[in-house]
Amino acid sequence: MTPGEFAAAMPKVSLHCHLTGAVAAATVVELAARHGVPVPGDRTAETLYDVDAHADLAEFLRVYDTVGAVVREPADFERVTYETLVLAAGHGVLHREMFVSPGSHAGVPWPVQLAGITAGLEAAERDAGITCRLIVAIDREGSPAAGVELVEQVIEHRTDHVVGIGLDYAEVSGPPEKFVEAFARARRAGLRRTGHSESGPPSNITTMLDALGCERIDHGYHVVTDAGVTARCRDDGIPFTCTPISSDVGRYSGSGDGTHAVIGAMVDAGLAVTIDSDDPPMFGTDPTNDFQVLAAARGYGPDQLIRFTHTAVEASWLDDTEKAALRARVTALTPEF
Ligand code: ADE
Ligand code: ZN
Repeated sequence: MTPGEFAAAMPKVSLHCHLTGAVAAATVVELAARHGVPVPGDRTAETLYDVDAHADLAEFLRVYDTVGAVVREPADFERVTYETLVLAAGHGVLHREMFVSPGSHAGVPWPVQLAGITAGLEAAERDAGITCRLIVAIDREGSPAAGVELVEQVIEHRTDHVVGIGLDYAEVSGPPEKFVEAFARARRAGLRRTGHSESGPPSNITTMLDALGCERIDHGYHVVTDAGVTARCRDDGIPFTCTPISSDVGRYSGSGDGTHAVIGAMVDAGLAVTIDSDDPPMFGTDPTNDFQVLAAARGYGPDQLIRFTHTAVEASWLDDTEKAALRARVTALTPEF
């Protein structure tokens, strides 16, 4: 079995995927027509996710918000959640901890979003065997007060499916220290915590760990530019949820040249690296493709590829019993190599 075939067949655990960024283009166009929402630039299902449309993060986030705006009825949330999870299950994803960006669905109350998403994930678990937990992401371009308000909503309407909070949108507009209070509220309520650091300096990683109490870092590529931060994260076993294709398209992993050298350096440094697709259809990728592209670029074989999955199992926010069950499923479903 080639590494590419192994990547397709192996079990996967998805820790870095945004629901808004995971909606199929055809679904966006259909929902836009139904709700009378214009698609920018009159894009069609074929051109909506042209990579040129999001060559930089600001452009990307405008399309992302358009996608969010067409997902507004409870049935829409149920459908897009179900569709992305069933598709992921077809790629061997056994478990996903998925970001939700409530502000992207402008004006839809959080409990309405949650009800629809919950119906979708329960149906996907029933039909495809994939489990899903939710990470509600604070839009870091918003105010600190808006962050606190969102966390309060999350706490008030919390269910077992909601495991934690995150921090997404443009890092330049929202340094982590803006959200100390929001993260402290989440921590006191027992919510798990992570945050994106894609373009920012390694000090943002340190701030997220120390001031926000983050337990994982999403992307975190600049960790390898500071030897002290690298050593600390390695010694503390901090998981990094890396996304080869989306970060290469956006040139955030430092290259944009398809070498995926920064992720390679993170692996070589002994950091706890996991692999996922971020916003799969928006970046023209899927849960298998990110592993295949990375494997080809870095020369990774099955041993390293399945190590990413085992790292993600340990980095997941399941309880010990659930984690043991997931570990056993991964082992049972790993192809011989
Ligand atoms: N969705 C929301 N914010 C994002 C980010 N910074 N990168 C990728 N997808 C996102
Ligand atoms: Zn992301």
